[in-house]
Amino acid sequence: MSTGNKKMKGIILSGGTATRLFPLTATTSKQLLPVYNKQMIFYPLNTLIKAGIKDILIIVTPEHSGQYLNLLGSTFKKHGINIYFEVQKIPRGLADAFILGEGFIGKDCATMILGDNIFEDDFSDAIKNFQSGGHVFAKKVSDPERFGVVKFDEAGRAVQIVEKPQEWISDYAVTGLYIYDNRVIEAAKGTQPSERGEIEITSLHNYYLEKGELKVSTFNGEWLDAGTFDTLLEAGKIVKEKKIYENFDPMIDKAIEEFNADLKALAKKRLL
Ligand code: G1P
Repeated sequence: MSTGNKKMKGIILSGGTATRLFPLTATTSKQLLPVYNKQMIFYPLNTLIKAGIKDILIIVTPEHSGQYLNLLGSTFKKHGINIYFEVQKIPRGLADAFILGEGFIGKDCATMILGDNIFEDDFSDAIKNFQSGGHVFAKKVSDPERFGVVKFDEAGRAVQIVEKPQEWISDYAVTGLYIYDNRVIEAAKGTQPSERGEIEITSLHNYYLEKGELKVSTFNGEWLDAGTFDTLLEAGKIVKEKKIYENFDPMIDKAIEEFNADLKALAKKRLL
Protein backbone atom coordinates (compact mmCIF):
# COMPACT_ATOMS: atom_id res chain seq x y z
CA MET A 1 0.00 0.00 0.00
CA SER A 2 1.18 3.54 -0.40
CA THR A 3 0.90 6.85 1.35
CA GLY A 4 1.69 9.30 -1.42
CA ASN A 5 4.76 7.58 -2.88
CA LYS A 6 5.79 6.24 0.52
CA LYS A 7 5.13 2.76 1.76
CA MET A 8 3.73 2.08 5.21
CA LYS A 9 5.49 -0.50 7.37
CA GLY A 10 4.05 -1.99 10.56
CA ILE A 11 5.76 -2.62 13.90
CA ILE A 12 4.37 -4.51 16.88
CA LEU A 13 6.25 -4.05 20.12
CA SER A 14 5.81 -7.24 22.07
CA GLY A 15 8.51 -7.03 24.71
CA GLY A 16 8.41 -6.59 28.46
CA THR A 17 8.39 -9.04 31.35
CA ALA A 18 4.84 -8.26 32.59
CA THR A 19 5.69 -9.07 36.20
CA ARG A 20 2.17 -8.12 37.29
CA LEU A 21 0.94 -11.20 35.44
CA PHE A 22 3.27 -13.74 37.10
CA PRO A 23 3.04 -16.76 37.08
CA LEU A 24 1.22 -16.54 33.71
CA THR A 25 4.10 -14.68 32.14
CA ALA A 26 6.74 -16.94 33.68
CA THR A 27 6.11 -19.41 30.86
CA THR A 28 5.06 -17.22 27.96
CA SER A 29 4.97 -13.67 26.74
CA LYS A 30 2.07 -11.49 27.88
CA GLN A 31 1.12 -10.84 24.26
CA LEU A 32 0.75 -14.58 23.65
CA LEU A 33 -1.77 -15.02 26.46
CA PRO A 34 -5.31 -15.79 25.32
CA VAL A 35 -7.91 -13.09 24.92
CA TYR A 36 -11.08 -15.10 24.36
CA ASN A 37 -10.34 -17.31 21.33
CA LYS A 38 -7.01 -15.96 20.11
CA GLN A 39 -3.60 -14.99 21.41
CA MET A 40 -3.54 -11.31 22.31
CA ILE A 41 -1.10 -10.41 19.54
CA PHE A 42 -3.62 -11.27 16.83
CA TYR A 43 -5.65 -8.18 17.79
CA PRO A 44 -2.92 -5.61 17.07
CA LEU A 45 -1.90 -7.69 14.03
CA ASN A 46 -5.44 -7.32 12.79
CA THR A 47 -5.33 -3.54 13.20
CA LEU A 48 -2.28 -3.41 10.91
CA ILE A 49 -3.31 -6.06 8.39
CA LYS A 50 -6.81 -4.59 7.99
CA ALA A 51 -5.16 -1.30 7.05
CA GLY A 52 -3.37 -3.01 4.17
CA ILE A 53 0.09 -3.18 5.75
CA LYS A 54 2.05 -6.05 4.23
CA ASP A 55 5.40 -5.85 6.05
CA ILE A 56 5.27 -6.22 9.82
CA LEU A 57 8.16 -6.32 12.27
CA ILE A 58 7.46 -7.95 15.62
CA ILE A 59 9.88 -6.98 18.37
CA VAL A 60 10.14 -9.75 20.96
CA THR A 61 12.16 -10.71 24.02
CA PRO A 62 14.90 -13.35 23.65
CA GLU A 63 13.10 -15.84 25.97
CA HIS A 64 9.93 -15.95 23.89
CA SER A 65 11.25 -15.54 20.37
CA GLY A 66 10.79 -19.26 19.59
CA GLN A 67 7.12 -19.18 20.56
CA TYR A 68 6.48 -16.20 18.27
CA LEU A 69 8.26 -17.94 15.44
CA ASN A 70 6.13 -21.09 15.91
CA LEU A 71 2.89 -19.14 15.91
CA LEU A 72 3.56 -16.48 13.31
CA GLY A 73 6.69 -17.50 11.40
CA SER A 74 4.83 -18.78 8.35
CA THR A 75 1.14 -18.34 9.16
CA PHE A 76 0.60 -15.37 6.82
CA LYS A 77 3.21 -16.14 4.18
CA LYS A 78 0.73 -17.62 1.72
CA HIS A 79 -1.40 -14.52 2.10
CA GLY A 80 1.22 -12.01 1.07
CA ILE A 81 2.04 -10.71 4.54
CA ASN A 82 5.71 -10.69 5.49
CA ILE A 83 6.40 -11.01 9.19
CA TYR A 84 9.88 -10.14 10.44
CA PHE A 85 11.27 -10.53 13.94
CA GLU A 86 13.74 -8.51 15.94
CA VAL A 87 14.92 -9.41 19.41
CA GLN A 88 15.07 -6.66 22.01
CA LYS A 89 17.59 -7.83 24.59
CA ILE A 90 16.99 -5.07 27.10
CA PRO A 91 13.75 -3.09 27.28
CA ARG A 92 14.84 0.49 26.60
CA GLY A 93 11.48 2.16 26.08
CA LEU A 94 8.86 2.27 23.36
CA ALA A 95 10.80 4.71 21.18
CA ASP A 96 13.57 2.09 20.88
CA ALA A 97 11.34 0.21 18.42
CA PHE A 98 12.21 2.77 15.75
CA ILE A 99 15.94 2.39 16.38
CA LEU A 100 15.76 -1.42 16.36
CA GLY A 101 13.54 -1.19 13.30
CA GLU A 102 15.66 1.26 11.34
CA GLY A 103 16.79 -1.21 8.68
CA PHE A 104 13.30 -2.65 8.39
CA ILE A 105 11.64 0.77 8.00
CA GLY A 106 14.18 1.91 5.40
CA LYS A 107 12.86 5.09 3.80
CA ASP A 108 9.23 4.35 4.58
CA CYS A 109 6.65 5.49 7.14
CA ALA A 110 5.81 3.34 10.14
CA THR A 111 2.73 2.48 12.13
CA MET A 112 3.60 1.06 15.51
CA ILE A 113 1.12 -0.69 17.78
CA LEU A 114 1.74 -2.11 21.22
CA GLY A 115 1.31 -5.89 21.30
CA ASP A 116 -1.06 -5.71 24.26
CA ASN A 117 -3.36 -3.02 22.91
CA ILE A 118 -6.75 -4.14 21.62
CA PHE A 119 -8.83 -1.63 19.72
CA GLU A 120 -12.46 -2.08 18.74
CA ASP A 121 -12.27 0.68 16.13
CA ASP A 122 -10.90 0.29 12.64
CA PHE A 123 -8.05 2.74 11.98
CA SER A 124 -7.55 1.73 8.36
CA ASP A 125 -8.52 5.13 6.91
CA ALA A 126 -6.09 7.01 9.14
CA ILE A 127 -3.28 4.60 8.27
CA LYS A 128 -4.04 4.50 4.55
CA ASN A 129 -4.46 8.26 4.21
CA PHE A 130 -1.41 9.19 6.27
CA GLN A 131 0.89 11.63 4.48
CA SER A 132 3.50 13.01 6.84
CA GLY A 133 4.24 14.09 10.41
CA GLY A 134 2.71 12.04 13.20
CA HIS A 135 -0.79 10.83 14.00
CA VAL A 136 -1.74 9.42 17.41
CA PHE A 137 -5.03 8.48 19.04
CA ALA A 138 -6.35 9.57 22.41
CA LYS A 139 -9.08 8.22 24.65
CA LYS A 140 -10.66 9.57 27.81
CA VAL A 141 -9.66 7.54 30.89
CA SER A 142 -10.32 7.70 34.62
CA ASP A 143 -6.64 7.23 35.59
CA PRO A 144 -4.63 9.55 33.32
CA GLU A 145 -1.58 9.50 35.62
CA ARG A 146 -0.83 5.98 34.27
CA PHE A 147 -0.39 7.13 30.66
CA GLY A 148 1.04 9.61 28.24
CA VAL A 149 -1.56 12.37 28.45
CA VAL A 150 -2.59 14.98 25.89
CA LYS A 151 -4.12 18.36 26.62
CA PHE A 152 -6.32 19.99 24.00
CA ASP A 153 -7.11 23.69 23.62
CA GLU A 154 -10.66 24.99 23.11
CA ALA A 155 -10.42 24.43 19.38
CA GLY A 156 -9.57 20.75 20.02
CA ARG A 157 -5.92 21.12 19.01
CA ALA A 158 -3.30 19.19 20.98
CA VAL A 159 -1.14 21.66 22.89
CA GLN A 160 0.78 19.57 25.41
CA ILE A 161 1.70 15.91 25.89
CA VAL A 162 3.22 14.67 29.13
CA GLU A 163 4.26 11.14 30.09
CA LYS A 164 2.56 10.06 33.33
CA PRO A 165 1.84 13.58 34.60
CA GLN A 166 2.04 13.93 38.37
CA GLU A 167 -0.30 16.90 38.20
CA TRP A 168 -3.53 16.65 36.27
CA ILE A 169 -3.48 18.21 32.82
CA SER A 170 -6.22 16.27 31.01
CA ASP A 171 -8.17 12.99 31.02
CA TYR A 172 -7.06 12.00 27.53
CA ALA A 173 -4.52 9.18 27.36
CA VAL A 174 -2.45 8.66 24.23
CA THR A 175 -3.12 5.04 23.30
CA GLY A 176 -0.67 2.49 21.89
CA LEU A 177 -1.11 3.14 18.16
CA TYR A 178 1.29 5.55 16.49
CA ILE A 179 1.72 6.59 12.87
CA TYR A 180 4.89 8.49 11.99
CA ASP A 181 6.83 9.48 8.92
CA ASN A 182 10.43 8.46 8.39
CA ARG A 183 11.88 11.24 10.56
CA VAL A 184 10.81 9.19 13.58
CA ILE A 185 14.06 7.21 13.33
CA GLU A 186 16.20 10.32 13.81
CA ALA A 187 13.80 11.60 16.49
CA ALA A 188 14.16 8.33 18.42
CA LYS A 189 17.95 8.41 18.12
CA GLY A 190 18.00 11.95 19.50
CA THR A 191 15.82 11.12 22.52
CA GLN A 192 17.37 11.20 25.99
CA PRO A 193 16.26 8.58 28.53
CA SER A 194 13.65 9.72 31.06
CA GLU A 195 13.89 9.37 34.83
CA ARG A 196 12.69 5.77 34.55
CA GLY A 197 15.65 5.16 32.20
CA GLU A 198 13.53 4.71 29.06
CA ILE A 199 13.39 6.54 25.77
CA GLU A 200 9.77 7.58 25.88
CA ILE A 201 7.32 7.50 23.01
CA THR A 202 6.01 10.79 24.39
CA SER A 203 9.29 12.45 23.34
CA LEU A 204 8.50 11.41 19.77
CA HIS A 205 4.99 12.89 19.95
CA ASN A 206 6.57 16.10 21.23
CA TYR A 207 9.11 16.13 18.41
CA TYR A 208 6.21 16.38 15.96
CA LEU A 209 4.00 18.53 18.20
CA GLU A 210 6.71 21.21 18.42
CA LYS A 211 6.86 21.33 14.63
CA GLY A 212 3.07 21.64 14.42
CA GLU A 213 2.98 18.30 12.60
CA LEU A 214 1.22 16.05 15.10
CA LYS A 215 -2.39 15.10 14.61
CA VAL A 216 -4.21 13.75 17.66
CA SER A 217 -7.59 12.11 17.06
CA THR A 218 -10.01 10.84 19.67
CA PHE A 219 -12.16 7.74 19.21
CA ASN A 220 -15.13 6.10 20.87
CA GLY A 221 -14.70 2.35 20.68
CA GLU A 222 -13.12 0.09 23.29
CA TRP A 223 -9.42 0.31 24.08
CA LEU A 224 -8.17 -2.58 26.16
CA ASP A 225 -4.73 -3.29 27.55
CA ALA A 226 -4.64 -6.49 29.50
CA GLY A 227 -1.99 -5.63 32.07
CA THR A 228 -3.49 -7.18 35.20
CA PHE A 229 -5.47 -10.35 35.97
CA ASP A 230 -8.67 -8.32 36.13
CA THR A 231 -8.12 -6.37 32.92
CA LEU A 232 -7.01 -9.56 31.13
CA LEU A 233 -10.24 -11.28 32.14
CA GLU A 234 -12.23 -8.16 31.33
CA ALA A 235 -10.60 -7.92 27.88
CA GLY A 236 -11.69 -11.46 27.06
CA LYS A 237 -15.23 -10.74 28.22
CA ILE A 238 -15.52 -7.50 26.24
CA VAL A 239 -14.04 -9.12 23.13
CA LYS A 240 -16.71 -11.81 23.42
CA GLU A 241 -19.65 -9.58 24.34
CA LYS A 242 -18.92 -6.93 21.73
CA LYS A 243 -17.99 -9.60 19.19
CA ILE A 244 -14.63 -7.91 18.57
CA TYR A 245 -13.29 -11.38 17.69
CA GLU A 246 -15.61 -11.34 14.68
CA ASN A 247 -14.16 -8.08 13.32
CA PHE A 248 -11.06 -9.72 11.95
CA ASP A 249 -9.79 -9.41 8.44
CA PRO A 250 -11.12 -12.58 6.72
CA MET A 251 -7.56 -13.39 5.70
CA ILE A 252 -6.49 -13.68 9.34
CA ASP A 253 -9.36 -16.04 10.12
CA LYS A 254 -8.39 -18.10 7.09
CA ALA A 255 -4.72 -18.16 8.09
CA ILE A 256 -5.58 -19.28 11.63
CA GLU A 257 -7.86 -21.99 10.23
CA GLU A 258 -5.01 -23.27 8.07
CA PHE A 259 -2.64 -23.13 11.01
CA ASN A 260 -5.06 -25.19 13.10
CA ALA A 261 -5.60 -27.71 10.29
CA ASP A 262 -1.83 -28.18 9.94
CA LEU A 263 -1.51 -28.73 13.69
CA LYS A 264 -4.35 -31.26 13.67
CA ALA A 265 -2.81 -33.14 10.77
CA LEU A 266 0.49 -33.25 12.62
CA ALA A 267 -1.18 -34.45 15.82
CA LYS A 268 -2.88 -37.24 13.87
CA LYS A 269 0.40 -38.30 12.30
CA ARG A 270 2.01 -38.52 15.70
CA LEU A 271 -0.76 -40.83 16.90
CA LEU A 272 -0.36 -43.25 14.03
C1 G1P B 1 3.16 3.46 27.46
C2 G1P B 1 3.49 4.88 27.00
C3 G1P B 1 2.33 5.84 27.29
C4 G1P B 1 1.03 5.32 26.71
C5 G1P B 1 0.78 3.86 27.15
C6 G1P B 1 -0.41 3.28 26.41
O1 G1P B 1 3.11 3.43 28.85
O2 G1P B 1 4.68 5.29 27.62
O3 G1P B 1 2.62 7.11 26.73
O4 G1P B 1 -0.04 6.15 27.10
O5 G1P B 1 1.93 3.04 26.88
O6 G1P B 1 -0.71 1.99 26.89
P1 G1P B 1 3.72 2.17 29.68
O7 G1P B 1 2.85 1.00 29.35
O8 G1P B 1 5.11 2.01 29.21
O9 G1P B 1 3.63 2.57 31.12
